[in-house]
Amino acid sequence: MSKLVGTAGVSVLGDKSLEFYRDPVAFCEQRIEKHGTRIFQSRLLNKPTSFVCSVEGMKELLCEKSSVFLKDPTDVMHNMYGDNIVTANGEEACLLRLSLTNLFTGKCLASGSDLINSVSERCLKNLSATGEPVSVYPLFKRLGTELVLGLFLNVNPDETPELFQEITALCTLHWHGIISTPISVKVPLWSSGFCTALEAKDKLMDIIKDKLECQRQGFVGYLRDLPLPDASCASQHLLLFISALIPKALASLLTSFTLVLSGAGKKEIRNRARADPDYLYYVLLEVQRLWPPFIGGRRIANQDTTLGGFHIPKAYAAMYISHAIHRDPEVFHQPEDFLPERWCGRNAGQEHLLCSLGNGPRNCIGVQLNNVFLKAVCGYLLQHYDWDLSPYSQDLQYKWLPVSRPTVPPMVSFTELELESSATDLPDGPP
Ligand code: HEM
Repeated sequence: MSKLVGTAGVSVLGDKSLEFYRDPVAFCEQRIEKHGTRIFQSRLLNKPTSFVCSVEGMKELLCEKSSVFLKDPTDVMHNMYGDNIVTANGEEACLLRLSLTNLFTGKCLASGSDLINSVSERCLKNLSATGEPVSVYPLFKRLGTELVLGLFLNVNPDETPELFQEITALCTLHWHGIISTPISVKVPLWSSGFCTALEAKDKLMDIIKDKLECQRQGFVGYLRDLPLPDASCASQHLLLFISALIPKALASLLTSFTLVLSGAGKKEIRNRARADPDYLYYVLLEVQRLWPPFIGGRRIANQDTTLGGFHIPKAYAAMYISHAIHRDPEVFHQPEDFLPERWCGRNAGQEHLLCSLGNGPRNCIGVQLNNVFLKAVCGYLLQHYDWDLSPYSQDLQYKWLPVSRPTVPPMVSFTELELESSATDLPDGPP
């Protein structure tokens, strides 16, 4: 067993959080290069932290040693979202996952497909009508919000436009609490972002409780019938599911998909993805590999242990970095290149080595929903449009926090295809 390379420094002064949050990709790349290894240590959130940037290390952390590396119960998510599955551990987390997974598989999942198709149609049907370029990230965020509120609360902008607007605005305020300093201050004419977020949370909880009381159909209905540990559990989880984070993550993936397939040079790839659902699936895997919406996740060691042969003391944090793991050259040759074919070539059957939706027993419970959603929206775009950047030359430099996307919102011009066929005509592809 060897000592972790790098230094965790002294408390406060040695903290590297600012450097990490400014540019997490450069932070990791520089240290991988300097130390010659993809597992190293530094100090993050004033805690000694091992950074995991290799596929092997990620599997060890999230799968083989998932009972040693636990979720942090004091995570910033807990301040804003209260008790829920994200910060739970052990038996409590297992039982919650067992119950909640039912919502995202089988009958429940199938019941959402009409809504997914109608939201795609409503948000994407007129993209070429004005001939003007479209700012794609806000477009896809709106689409993600319509999907999430329609699916989880039965609220849609045609039937109840004011309620839809109100919830959207409250979700945004609530989300800002996650990225603000956790100080609750309110004086006449001013209140801290954190305080505003807590007020938004209370209003959202009122709306959610009302829905849980009055609605019988759809997801809310299924949730009411689940065996959950206490009365507040369903509302706490609805608050999590309608979080602004999810539309942002979906918008991140859809934006990356649109950008990488844009222009005349990518026509052949678009045509192949249009005609072959397997190939579309490989394209979407490659989009998630290169541009994971979230930079990674964090765990805390509950005992002395090892990662990649390095000693990890009890109470050390471990941070897996999806961006770097997905570029591990041991597994992904030509890691920086967009090569959908790799998923039917040397990386065939290795989707389980990605971690854009986490991995192991604490991976994302919305995996299947995401797949259905991405297939429907990307299918709709491919069946109806060709597209290109407009103007042709734009700064597409990515920022990675809080959710990955180009720093300058990209503008895309869509052209309607002459031979139109509906996205719902697509034959079924892989899940
Ligand atoms: C593109 C969309 C999404 C992305 C990129 C994403 C990503 C992730 C990631 C990376 C994790 C693991 C976090 C960790 O390891 O600490 C996770 C967990 C989770 N996701 Fe997602 N997610 C998405 C959509 C969804 C949706 C639609 C839902 C449900 C409404 C959902 C619910 C959850 C929950 C409840 C967990 C926690 C699971 C646990 O702690 O056991 N996610 N997600």
